[in-house]
Amino acid sequence: MYVRFKRKACEEVGIATFDTVLPADVSEADLVKVVRGLNENPAVNGILVQLPLPKHINEENVLSAIGLDKDVDGFHPLNIGKLCMKGRSPLFEPCTPKGCVELLDRHGIPIAGKNAVVIGRSNIVGLPVANLLLKRDATVTVCHSKTADIPSIVRNADIVVAAIGLPEFVKADWIKPGAVVIDVGINSIADATKKAGKRTVGDVEGALMATGVASYVTPVPGGVGPMTIAMLLRNTTDGWKRALDARQ
Ligand code: GUN
Repeated sequence: MYVRFKRKACEEVGIATFDTVLPADVSEADLVKVVRGLNENPAVNGILVQLPLPKHINEENVLSAIGLDKDVDGFHPLNIGKLCMKGRSPLFEPCTPKGCVELLDRHGIPIAGKNAVVIGRSNIVGLPVANLLLKRDATVTVCHSKTADIPSIVRNADIVVAAIGLPEFVKADWIKPGAVVIDVGINSIADATKKAGKRTVGDVEGALMATGVASYVTPVPGGVGPMTIAMLLRNTTDGWKRALDARQ
C-alpha cells in the first residue's frame, strides 16, 4: 500500500519512478548491488529501500550502501547521526518525522518550550521525531514498552506523537485539554460490521476526536500518511536541485 501511494504521488507531480521488485529470498549482496547501481545512475535523485527487509538481510548494511546525496528516506546512519546532533544538519530528514513537524508549523503550533511526549522509539519514527522536536527546543519525553505509567506522562504533554504501532493504545482520557495529538499509527483491526471485515485505526483511541479535549488531532487514515508522502516528494526534489547545482 505504501509503495503504491508513493508511486502514484510521484506520477502526479512528474517524478519518474524506477521500481526494482526483488524476491523475498534475495541475498544481501544482490540487494546492495541494486542500491549501488542506483547510486551511480545520474537519472536517479532519490533511493528508497522499503522496510522492513526480510530477516536474513542486515538492514544497516543496506541502508549504509545508499548514497548520502540520494538518501531521501534519511535513514543512512550518517544522516540519522547528524539529525541527532546539535548544530548539524542531515542532507535529508526522515519523511514521517519531518511531516509531523511540518503539520505543527503549518498550523502555527509553537514547539519551543513545550512538553512533547513521543510514544514509541523506532528508528523510522519515534527516535527521529523525538530528536527533531528536541532540535526545535521542545522538552521531549520518549515512552516505550518498558516505560512505567505512560498515562501520567502523556497527561503532561502539550504535544503527543503516538508511534507505537498498537491499535488505539493512547486513551482519550490521557490527553490534557488543549493538547495537540499527532497519530502516526496505521493499524488494521477486525470489524465484522465492515464489508472487508476489518478497518484501519490509529495508535490513539478514535473517540478522542469527538471529545473536543485536544486542540488538534490528526485523522487516521488521511493525516500523517499523506504528509509522509509529501515529504518524500520534497526530499526528492531537494536532492534533484542539489544535484543540478553541483553540476553547474
Ligand atoms: N516502512 C514503514 N515506513 C517507511 C518509510 O517511511 N520508508 C521506508 N523505506 N520504509 C518504511
